Amino acid sequence: MPTDLLGRDYETFPAPEPLRQHGPARIMAMCNQKGGVGKTTSSINIAGALSQYGRRVLIVDFDPQGAATVGLGVNANTVENTVYTALFDPSVDVHDIVQHTQFENLDIMPANIDLSAAEVQLVTEVGREQILASVLRQVRDEYDAIIIDCQPSLGLLTV
Ligand SMILES: Nc1ncnc2c1ncn2[C@@H]1O[C@H](COP(=O)(O)OP(=O)(O)OP(=O)(O)O)[C@@H](O)[C@H]1O
Ligand SMILES: [Mg+2]
Repeated sequence: MPTDLLGRDYETFPAPEPLRQHGPARIMAMCNQKGGVGKTTSSINIAGALSQYGRRVLIVDFDPQGAATVGLGVNANTVENTVYTALFDPSVDVHDIVQHTQFENLDIMPANIDLSAAEVQLVTEVGREQILASVLRQVRDEYDAIIIDCQPSLGLLTV
């Protein structure tokens, strides 16, 4: 039995059963107001593990720093549409915003610095707490897990 640094047994988890069908996804937000505590690292690794078990996973990069986007090998500065587009331009199909990564079963809705403007724009938006939910509703049935990698604050985006 492998142990951690303190000699405690690692908890073992049974391998998830193979799935016969996909969706609707469980939606999880990785948030903490403190920066640099491992939100993005955890998001990418949990998503990676789930995808290796055959789960279809979407990471929603909800941080203008775009670390999850870059971490999955997508150039955040060359993508045409980002999660910012998804929030504010309903004429763009959410499927056209999602990018496949080089990893099987793992997709990303990218973010870049544009998203920092959303914090201000959301102030006057009616029903702002529901916008991301309605975006994700359009793709939820195609994934088993959707992980939202939040920015380190308790601003409007995170709320
Ligand atoms: N379990 C861990 N053990 C050691 N180092 C870690 C661990 N998880 C993350 N790190 C390191 O901590 C740093 C910050 O991680 P990460 O970017 O995931 O944090 P974050 O919470 O997403 O940051 P931000 O708030 O800026 O978005 C990185 O250098 C990462 O490699
Ligand atoms: Mg992060």
